[in-house]
Amino acid sequence: MADTADEEEPLASSAKDLARQQKERAYASLIEVHPTSVGKMVSRKEREARRLRSQDMTYGEIKFTSFGTIFSWIRERLGELQEPGGVFYDLGSGTGKPVFAAALLHDFDRCVGIELLEGLHACALELQTRWDAMKTADPPTLKSGEQRTAIELINGDITTDEWSDATFVFTNSTCFTSQLMRELAELSLELKPGALWVSFTRELPSEEWELLLSEQLAMSWGPATIYIQRRR
Ligand SMILES: C[S@@+](CC[C@H](N)C(=O)[O-])C[C@H]1O[C@@H](n2cnc3c(N)ncnc32)[C@H](O)[C@@H]1O
Repeated sequence: MADTADEEEPLASSAKDLARQQKERAYASLIEVHPTSVGKMVSRKEREARRLRSQDMTYGEIKFTSFGTIFSWIRERLGELQEPGGVFYDLGSGTGKPVFAAALLHDFDRCVGIELLEGLHACALELQTRWDAMKTADPPTLKSGEQRTAIELINGDITTDEWSDATFVFTNSTCFTSQLMRELAELSLELKPGALWVSFTRELPSEEWELLLSEQLAMSWGPATIYIQRRR
């Protein structure tokens, strides 16, 4: 028995490794046209042109490996995301990278990004065109679960647009002001019990959201605290 278990363990983990490598490759090929420097430049130019000076608009991006670690914590340590489905939102989605990363890391029904700046939204639409091409590539770069997820990118304002159907919200909120976090906390009361909220550096300030986990993770700009909360 022990021998069989010993033999099976590497097989199981190599299948997992292969799946992870396939996702990393798909993500890398998707985003190669838009390194973080592109998002930063597009954001800075538009903020200067429109004289948008709020700290909320500071630009930064996730890394796929860190995002994957967060999804592993949610699945393995918190026992969430065990079934396919759900609606993912990235509030302040930039060039859209977390939207596509989420579609690779879980079999969501929909993955939605809302971004205020038109230039960043345009970059996200370019990634969506590349994503659609990956679905029809021969052989396909995306697996069937990744292909079925509907991707929606909205050029809008997270304080006025609708996102109450979210079951999973992500905010890359390190530079969000306390005022914006309070507004989001107020709006988040529309979400159903059980919904998950992942934020960077700033916890969603609401008693209606139970803190499940807070942990440091290395980001491109240095270590950040990741908060994972669940709607009571
Ligand atoms: C730190 S960046 C994160 C980009 C992306 N989520 C990521 O992690 O790769 C935060 C984004 O939020 C956007 N943002 C800030 N306030 C917003 C608002 N009220 N409505 C929509 N987007 C907003 C900014 O323009 C910026 O692109």
